[in-house]
Amino acid sequence: MNVLGIETSCDETGVALYNAQTGLLADALHSQIDLHAVYGGVVPEIASRDHIRCLLPLIEQVLGEAGIKRPDAIAYTAGPGLVGALMVGGGMANGLGLAWHCPVIPIHHMEGHLLAPMLEDEPPEFPFLALLVSGGHSMLIAVRGLGEYEVLGTTLDDAVGEAFDKTAKLLGLGYPGGPALAALAEGGSDTAYALPRPMLNRPGLDFSFSGLKTAVMLEVKKAIAAGELESRRADLAASFQRAAVDTLVGRALKAAKQERFERIVVAGGVGANKLLRQEMASRFEGKVFYPRLDFCTDNGAMIAVAGALRLADATSATEIRAQARWSLDTLSVPGTD
Ligand code: KG4
Ligand code: ZN
Repeated sequence: MNVLGIETSCDETGVALYNAQTGLLADALHSQIDLHAVYGGVVPEIASRDHIRCLLPLIEQVLGEAGIKRPDAIAYTAGPGLVGALMVGGGMANGLGLAWHCPVIPIHHMEGHLLAPMLEDEPPEFPFLALLVSGGHSMLIAVRGLGEYEVLGTTLDDAVGEAFDKTAKLLGLGYPGGPALAALAEGGSDTAYALPRPMLNRPGLDFSFSGLKTAVMLEVKKAIAAGELESRRADLAASFQRAAVDTLVGRALKAAKQERFERIVVAGGVGANKLLRQEMASRFEGKVFYPRLDFCTDNGAMIAVAGALRLADATSATEIRAQARWSLDTLSVPGTD
């Protein structure tokens, strides 16, 4: 059973082919980062147009690499995401489904992220706690089984990746700023600035990053006024990164203890952060699972593997599903909807 996975929810066109028995056969990605960088963020119209331009060639490339003419099923990201961008992937999946007489499977983007470690040699067993941290989300999810998700905590304002990106911008780094900020932080002191660890002392499991973002902004303004921004950039980056990571790890450990999880999956773009990985490994008593670095950020492979696990939901290609907003809580066990 070969499943083609199509990801077009934001600014990466991802395509992959996954075999339910033998694993990943091929995977290709086109990033639009350069197109959006000049605007400092993703421009939805440009994203949709570039998905249209790149999607079919990537599908041809992946099928060619795997030596397969057509897949047995097509999984596509149906949300959450930019509606225009989602429509491109959904339209292509349904069009090819009709042409090839093969079923389609709409996939929740965040379910793709949390199932991405299933592509690794040692995949996590259920149940586990998922810390999903990306440019659009900061969530703690109790994953009791496939399709059995309970959102334990989410961000009340900015997503953590967004906070990394905005702080990076303040420090004069390009978009997306997360990796550049992490690199700059390597040369700085993470105790140079006493930044807040938002929500850590509050009840519940929600996150908030706007207070941290504002605190860094004030320090940046002070450094500019004192004419010393250049010499303080690395310290600011390191102090911000430490505060953000402390917050994520603190919340995740609290959730794991409260819900008695022995396994934590960290996924989403910020899951590529080295300090976050080190801190989770040293502070959590159980086992931590990650996707490989390439599959932390958006990709087609996570959608293909989610499709293979959701074959029971496959339907004939009749309607394009594209939902800008879609809560993980509303998903169900494959084949029961
Ligand atoms: O999952 P993703 O590719 O896209 C979304 O669905 O949002 O995540 C992208 C986010 C961006 O905010 C980027 O700055 C952040 O992940 N990111 C990082 C690192 N690599 C990517 N943040 C911190 N450290 C990193 N090494
Ligand atoms: Zn994502």
